[in-house]
Amino acid sequence: MTKPRLFSGMQPSADSLQIGNYIGALMQWRGMQDDYDAFFTVVDLHAITVPQDPARLREKTRRTAAQYIAAGVEPSRSTLYVQSQVPAHAELAWILSTITGFGEASRMTQFKDKSQRYGSDQTSVGLFTYPVLMAADILLFQAEAVPVGDDQKQHVELTRNLAERFNSRFGETFTVPKPVIQGETARIYDLQEPTAKMSKSADSQAGVLYLLDDINVTAKKVMRAVTDSEGVVRYDRAEKPGVSNLLTIYAALSGREISSIEDEYAGRGYGDFKKGLRDVIVAEFEPVRARALELLEDTAELDRVLSANADRASEAAEETLSAVYERVGLLRRG
Ligand code: TYM
Repeated sequence: MTKPRLFSGMQPSADSLQIGNYIGALMQWRGMQDDYDAFFTVVDLHAITVPQDPARLREKTRRTAAQYIAAGVEPSRSTLYVQSQVPAHAELAWILSTITGFGEASRMTQFKDKSQRYGSDQTSVGLFTYPVLMAADILLFQAEAVPVGDDQKQHVELTRNLAERFNSRFGETFTVPKPVIQGETARIYDLQEPTAKMSKSADSQAGVLYLLDDINVTAKKVMRAVTDSEGVVRYDRAEKPGVSNLLTIYAALSGREISSIEDEYAGRGYGDFKKGLRDVIVAEFEPVRARALELLEDTAELDRVLSANADRASEAAEETLSAVYERVGLLRRG
């Protein structure tokens, strides 16, 4: 029996992924590989919607791919490749952009946030059409499942709408995908500003836990995480966002219930709690970091694996793209 398809990706927008990417997405990816025919992509075409230094972009692309593998994505089982190596992504994005409403695209909250941050002169048209490219990524592979963090939900909703619209206008072509979003762990917050989402491209790195940071740096950031003055290890997102975020991370990485962690630290201070959390994070990150750095020592081999996987992805993508061209009425080369 053929397995259902899965698609997901991350932007190579930093030297390292952060713990939100790891808990919100990578841990799910790792767990879903058996049950799905999975495609995991380093979305470099998305990353260039904001300015990137060319040499650094190449470096970040390899680093992102290495971290996927180090965290447990297996390129022999899943298809792990770089988006720009499969031109069908950009080709389908163009077609989908012609059925996307201007108003519909304008309502995307991530675009609104980012364009506000950069100002309209610095905001590219590519940033505006970013979600359409994301829809193309997913629809190209007829993916049923899209495991992502909470912040990508609106983009997957747009993808569903575009799939349904295309199908009803041109005939059944696309599988309508579903987002797969875990509860609490779908949004990890910044350790210094626990009401803001943790982001790998944040202005300040003090509250961001990077997978590839030196372990001592990570440990220090955990010990300095913002808490509150109550002194009780208790989950309460509204009143105690800092402690609640740390509890979420602790539970996700240890596989324990939040209540069991609260019990363990009852009557003890935040110092003990943070030390416990630090040990859990370091134990999780250390092997991933070591493996990623090892993979990055042989970039020729890494590039070879990515190219072979891109060939596999191209084959699957071409099938969808040629059906789309046909349906839309583009005259095919004889
Ligand atoms: P990106 O690169 O921002 O993030 C990669 C993945 O990590 C999740 N994530 C988080 N989860 C929990 N807490 C956080 N603080 C946190 N920060 C990030 C994201 O939800 C995401 O799952 N647009 C996408 C990339 C993309 C994509 C796709 C994803 C392009 N095409 C197709 C899925 C399918 C993005 O910018 O992710």
